[in-house]
Amino acid sequence: MKNCSIAVSILSANFANLGKDIEELVHSGLVDSIHFDIMDNHYVQNLTFGPVICKSLIQYGIRSKFDIHLMIDPSERLINEFIEIGVNQILLHVEYSKNIEKELRKIRNNGCKVGLVFNPRTSLETLDRLINEIDSVLIMSVYPGFSGQLFIESSIERLLEARSIIDKSGKDVLLEVDGGINFKNVDKIVQTGVDVIVVGSSVFDQSIGSIEALNIFHKKIDFCKKF
Ligand code: DX5
Ligand code: ZN
Repeated sequence: MKNCSIAVSILSANFANLGKDIEELVHSGLVDSIHFDIMDNHYVQNLTFGPVICKSLIQYGIRSKFDIHLMIDPSERLINEFIEIGVNQILLHVEYSKNIEKELRKIRNNGCKVGLVFNPRTSLETLDRLINEIDSVLIMSVYPGFSGQLFIESSIERLLEARSIIDKSGKDVLLEVDGGINFKNVDKIVQTGVDVIVVGSSVFDQSIGSIEALNIFHKKIDFCKKF
């Protein structure tokens, strides 16, 4: 089985220590990217942060890939700002984008990667149609809004479906999954053939500490890869 990397969502981080904590995670080499959940209390019932957090982390010295999971309206001006900052990837929900094709192209044409996000009950039809326009697909395994929710079991079938659509297309598109991933369910999730898991509370809310938590995730991923 191929490799699976880890993106850490900062939604459940301690914001009073953000720079220091993210620096430690990045220096450990155990994290492939930092995942930012941008919520405006409109599409999802939570209000988080905007580009200023990314800028502050860069000024602090953080050098990592930044993945921007957008749940906002209107999005155009903020998309421009994130592109200007130089983030690695912007992830757009098929449910929330007003003109998804236009937005995907605009992001890509500006040298930024782009991903398509699907909520738990949204059909994956659009994935078939837009597979040539994207770098990754993100399957939500919780309804977006909060960290620490329970993994929705039917996400396993959706990951398998998305995997098969990607494989049939022959395109170099990454499969990502976001929400409710923990030490107990990570094995079966990795076995679906995902390329990236997004983890939040299972890293930050551990008494063992976030580095040890990431080590455990990596051991489990490595074990799955043997088969
Ligand atoms: C949910 C967010 C996720 C979330 C992940 O709306 O998109 O990125 O923060 O957190 P956990 O791993 O705790 O579900
Ligand atoms: Zn997210």
